[in-house]
Amino acid sequence: MSTLPALKWRHSLKHFSSQKVPKAQITDLTEAARLSVSSYGLQPYQVWVIENPILLKQLAKHAFDQPQLHECSHLIVFAHQTKIGDELVDQYFQHYYEQTGAEIGSLDGYSDHIKSAIAAKSHQEQQNWAQQQAYIALGSLLTEAATQGIDTCPMTGFDVEAFNQLLGFENQGLSTCVICAVGYRNDSLELPTKVRIPSQGFVQFLA
Ligand SMILES: Cc1cc2nc3c(=O)[nH]c(=O)nc-3n(C[C@H](O)[C@H](O)[C@H](O)COP(=O)(O)O)c2cc1C
Repeated sequence: MSTLPALKWRHSLKHFSSQKVPKAQITDLTEAARLSVSSYGLQPYQVWVIENPILLKQLAKHAFDQPQLHECSHLIVFAHQTKIGDELVDQYFQHYYEQTGAEIGSLDGYSDHIKSAIAAKSHQEQQNWAQQQAYIALGSLLTEAATQGIDTCPMTGFDVEAFNQLLGFENQGLSTCVICAVGYRNDSLELPTKVRIPSQGFVQFLA
């Protein structure tokens, strides 16, 4: 069950082969994002899957024409919500009562507590918080992809405003947070050495 072999295998690919990732596996990746942890469980983000080559080409223009957008099988866009407030919390508790069968209203006190904690943040802090949660979901997706032998490249090298406009996010209270190209490696291409901080400098054990 260890994910370490998969994490050692994975690389952020610059180039993908022309092989498409089957729909069932794309669904596994989005499930990994959906099942990811988030602060209070609020999941203030959505995941969009883009396969249309024309749209990918248009998006690539606003991502420094990075080859991943031209060559990937699918592009996964993590979009965080731009309006963070009571509605998000109410939506969570609606799901909570539906899915657990708990008495409606039994957690009103906790709901109010979350609403106050969120309201105490500035708009910028709320946006940062929402983005942080989306990044955790990205991590879950990257790990699931690696365990299934699917290659990825997480990317922030793109113009957020242009992406939001092309994807129609502005009217939907969403903003592009991070994107992830998905596909398969070309086995004939040599992958670069994985460079990481050595563990001695990275982990400190306090006894
Ligand atoms: C948030 C984030 C943004 C990134 N943006 C880009 C990007 O725009 N283009 C790119 O080629 N790689 C991008 N990367 C990939 C990193 O450069 C890569 O993960 C890092 O160099 C480590 O390499 P590895 O993933 O192959 O082990 C990004 C990675 C993360 C986590």
